[in-house]
Amino acid sequence: MAVGIFDSGLGGLTVLDAVEKRLPEASFVYLGDNAHAPYGVRDPENIYELTRGHVQTLWDRGCDLVILACNTASAAALRRMQEAGVPEGKRVLGVFVPLIEALTERQWGDNSPPREVAVKHVALFATPATVSSRAFQRELAYRAIGVDVEAQSCGGVVDAIEEGDMILAEALVRSHVDALKRKMPEPQAAVLGCTHYPLVQDVFQAALGPDVKLFSQPALVADSLADYLERRPNMQGSGEQSVYLTTGDPGRVSDRATQFLRRSITFEAV
Ligand code: DGL
Repeated sequence: MAVGIFDSGLGGLTVLDAVEKRLPEASFVYLGDNAHAPYGVRDPENIYELTRGHVQTLWDRGCDLVILACNTASAAALRRMQEAGVPEGKRVLGVFVPLIEALTERQWGDNSPPREVAVKHVALFATPATVSSRAFQRELAYRAIGVDVEAQSCGGVVDAIEEGDMILAEALVRSHVDALKRKMPEPQAAVLGCTHYPLVQDVFQAALGPDVKLFSQPALVADSLADYLERRPNMQGSGEQSVYLTTGDPGRVSDRATQFLRRSITFEAV
């Protein structure tokens, strides 16, 4: 029917926006679990159960391919779902791999052994659940050696963004960047490992300084999805119009989404 895009709430809209621009002919079913956001403070079992249920909903609505546009869900659920086996003809993909491929300057499908890469000191900003999963470091270790990763768990940022309190979100970002810099004074690169964070990307960049290269997922995921669909066009489905679903209050979520994307977007109850 269409490609499914799942996030705990509003963060996946940063990915949705990029993929809609990159693939204007494709249609998408976006599902935000705003009723249960933030996921980043939940335990892995709970994140897995929530994610699995919502991915099933998207599969049931005819999406053959579902993108977990949520690092927290990817960290806690993706590998487990893939290992448990997905239904015939269905796929679920996450957002870590395109990011790590960009960071390590690897091409898609490059399965050669891990090697030294240019970047040596990387700051990772992510939710508490993503940081404690160490999924980023695990995926990175398959591809690169000798990279020092300092992770900063950014408590409160997702809640503030979901509440629309951008002043609080920005203040929290500055204090999390300060905390990171106390542990790693001179990161070469910084990874925004949560899809909500591109909504405050400028604040991260300003706090980190202009010499730190920022890796943000939306454009990387959009390029990677375009590449995937070129190789597997049957996974695109045949939907004609994108649909936006939420487990939360559709009016409230539509207002926030319209504010973030700066265009009108209407959510329906799932
Ligand atoms: N935007 C999500 C992520 O990428 C989830 C944040 C949350 O719900 O805590 O991690």
